[in-house]
Amino acid sequence: MPPRTTIWELDFHTIGKHLVLKHYLDAWLPIMGQSNRRVLFIDAFAGPGEYSGGELGSPIIALRALIDHGASQLMTNEFVYQFIEKDCQRSQHLRTVLSDMDHEIPSNCSYDVVNSTFTETLTRELDHLERQRSNLDPALVMIDPFGVSETPMALIARIMANPKAEVYVSFMYDFINRFLNDHSFENHLDDLFGTECWRQARQIGNADQRKQFLYQLYSGQLKSSGARQVLYFEMYQGSRLVYAIFFGTKNLEGSDRMKQAIWRVAPSGDYRFVGGFHNQLHLGPAFVNLEQFREDLFNKFNSIQEVDIAEVVKFAKSDGTMFHSGQLKRDTLRPMEREGAIRVRRPAGSTQGYRDGAKLQFLSVSGHTASEQPTLI
Ligand SMILES: C[S@@+](CC[C@H](N)C(=O)[O-])C[C@H]1O[C@@H](n2cnc3c(N)ncnc32)[C@H](O)[C@@H]1O
Repeated sequence: MPPRTTIWELDFHTIGKHLVLKHYLDAWLPIMGQSNRRVLFIDAFAGPGEYSGGELGSPIIALRALIDHGASQLMTNEFVYQFIEKDCQRSQHLRTVLSDMDHEIPSNCSYDVVNSTFTETLTRELDHLERQRSNLDPALVMIDPFGVSETPMALIARIMANPKAEVYVSFMYDFINRFLNDHSFENHLDDLFGTECWRQARQIGNADQRKQFLYQLYSGQLKSSGARQVLYFEMYQGSRLVYAIFFGTKNLEGSDRMKQAIWRVAPSGDYRFVGGFHNQLHLGPAFVNLEQFREDLFNKFNSIQEVDIAEVVKFAKSDGTMFHSGQLKRDTLRPMEREGAIRVRRPAGSTQGYRDGAKLQFLSVSGHTASEQPTLI
């Protein structure tokens, strides 16, 4: 049951969602800030701004990412934060929390709290832009409901129709799975997925397969709505999967940065954040097994005679693999080359590394020598 009080206790699994958001914003703000006049962060289900133990809510985390950013002096463009909250008391609470930090907000940043719904607010704004024949400024839209209603794929598609829009959506899997056979819920799920195909999941007895089917369907719907890259990671409470966060972007760099943000929070690479009293967030060093990355690369490129390094980097940044570009050259390609699993033809004057112009041939997943020790990150 969603809380009824104005503020509520922070769940452990929420911490993962917040940490990934914070790491992503740390990378996103300067990248977007340097190349755009105005940048938006829209927290479409903003909440009251804090939890009952005093922990920060997503609006404050997002604002602090800008205020505390090491490179904030260099970001002279305009940042506009919009916080949408349907509940009157919660939006009022958020205003109060925000007003306490007014003196810290840089002059190129403004915020607005809208006491309304996601659907009403975004529909009105997108209609207005359509009449003006203009686009939404580059925007990261966080869609973080308690349940599944009021997050229609049709509206996400209108957001993603803009050239530089990204969405960070809580996909309430536990809820969806529980109500899959409840006929009074069908309309909500039709809206959520933007299709009736989710009904096929009712025939899938195996819990894992059912989940994979629904994830693939949602991911596919985000892609049909305009996202070129779709990633997700999962939030567990103990052993129970509570929800997954889906991220949709058109931008390869955005996809790479989001993967890096997720790896920082779930460093063993399983894209799971396990919250719970006995299984708390693990942020220490972790051993990463890059065998799967080798397989992804081999499967992608082994049928090609020679592939340019630029194509390999593009793949590493994309949603075609869960690994990211920072794990590519030193930790994966170099040992593969040493083992003879790849052959490299370098441009004139280059004897090592994988600079522009290097051509790679993928021969096997691992070569003849013993494979490397897992990498410590
Ligand atoms: C999961 S909480 C948000 C938590 C917040 N994003 C955070 O991470 O700190 C969902 C919030 O959305 C609000 N809400 C519910 N329906 C909404 C709607 N249709 N539009 C906007 N806000 C809504 C609820 O009142 C609640 O405060």
